[in-house]
Amino acid sequence: MSVKTPQTMGQQFERRSWAEPWKIKMVEPIQIIDRAQRQQALQKAGYNTFLLRSEDVYIDLLTDSGTSAMSDRQWAGIMTGDEAYAGSRNYYHLEETIQSFYGYRYVIPTHQGRGAEHLISQAIIQPGMFVPGNMYFTTTRLHQELAGGTFVDVIVDEAHDPQNQNPFKGDIDLDKLSALIDRVGADKIAYVSLAGTVNMAGGQPVSMANARALRELCDKHDIRVYLDATRMVENCLFIQEREEGYSDKPIAEILLEFCSYTDGAWMSAKKDNLVNIGGWLALNHEDVFQLARNMVVVYEGLHTYGGMAGRDMEALAIGIKESVQDEHVRSRVGQVRYLGNLLTEWGIPIVEPVGGHAIFLDAKRFYPHIPQDEFPSQTLAAELYLDAGVRGMERGVVSAGRDPETNEHRYPALELTRLTIPRRVYTQAHMDVVAESVKAVHDKREATKGLKMTFEPTYLRFFQANFERL
Ligand code: F0G
Repeated sequence: MSVKTPQTMGQQFERRSWAEPWKIKMVEPIQIIDRAQRQQALQKAGYNTFLLRSEDVYIDLLTDSGTSAMSDRQWAGIMTGDEAYAGSRNYYHLEETIQSFYGYRYVIPTHQGRGAEHLISQAIIQPGMFVPGNMYFTTTRLHQELAGGTFVDVIVDEAHDPQNQNPFKGDIDLDKLSALIDRVGADKIAYVSLAGTVNMAGGQPVSMANARALRELCDKHDIRVYLDATRMVENCLFIQEREEGYSDKPIAEILLEFCSYTDGAWMSAKKDNLVNIGGWLALNHEDVFQLARNMVVVYEGLHTYGGMAGRDMEALAIGIKESVQDEHVRSRVGQVRYLGNLLTEWGIPIVEPVGGHAIFLDAKRFYPHIPQDEFPSQTLAAELYLDAGVRGMERGVVSAGRDPETNEHRYPALELTRLTIPRRVYTQAHMDVVAESVKAVHDKREATKGLKMTFEPTYLRFFQANFERL
């Protein structure tokens, strides 16, 4: 393929670009404050990008959670909210939408993903049980631990290597899982906690073959499999692109098949499902459903709203339908790849292959002179904000927290800074600005010093910890 450049202009070229399947109807102004103001804002925030004010941020890549742009259809749905305390029409619309797109029998709405994680963890995990999964996620593992469980990472080894090119780095290593079952006994396994894609590994997908084989293994031992479906639609695109037999199947069909290998799912609807707030738990077994449905009224709200307004449930039901459209998923992941390609062309170390929702800068290779105790990923997130007002976040030793038994830092193999792309929000030009800022920070990497932690909260410390420059 030849590309139109000043040198080839006038000659034949075959460049064919893709574009987003939407146009912009409403805009939200953003502005950049100057470097001295950014320095001040960062210091005030204790070098923690979670503690910055949004108004002080230019391009906000903190998270793809709740930051999507809703469609005109979703906003229209907001106006049809039925705010009845019980039995809202929007709940039934949501219930049937989840049933038809994800294929599960029972649905419980929650205020967001961690509300659903809390319910399923409390409903199933008994103290002393183990919860094997494909890499931890912060809130998921915490709820499993608070219910008395011990999370065991059984993801394939390749997931811990940011340069390994395995197309399905989210897969479960079935030998590791079998070894755990042999060691502790199947009755001590609460369930398998399967996430598609795997956030902490860089948005890496799970293959359909792996889900199928996992189901078979778990059936042999009578163990249930629950899916963190937060970014499962993006996972389905990777299956369509990379796995034999799926290139002609629509995302919606792939999603249904994948979910059919699991017994239920929890969902942070703030991601794939294109809403600003919301979540759900969906289950196939009536016993777990009854327990969770009873608990939801204690912790979230009545079982027909679970902490969401009627209008939120309507926007969510519409968002689910939009989220599984092939063109949408392709352009969403395509934008992430566009940024990834710019960075790799410039020799900037990132997790490869590029995952679904974010670019993960490899802070260990970016700052080889900063030891993990001095928080290289946290440092990189701070430097990026200083350079051009781009907000990313730490996914390394700070996010990993302390081991509940030894109280030592957990030192994850992956020490990453995440640039998370909100859905349908930023343009290609924003991606260019981000890439150039990363390059500027990379160019002066050798002179950059690490951080020390000056305040450490007990739970999920990355959200609220404070740091100082060394
Ligand atoms: N599971 C995964 C894989 C997630 O990424 C998140 C949230 C949750 C569960 C919890 O859902 O936030 O709705 O309570 N991830 C956000 C992030 C916070 O930035 O990655 P929640």
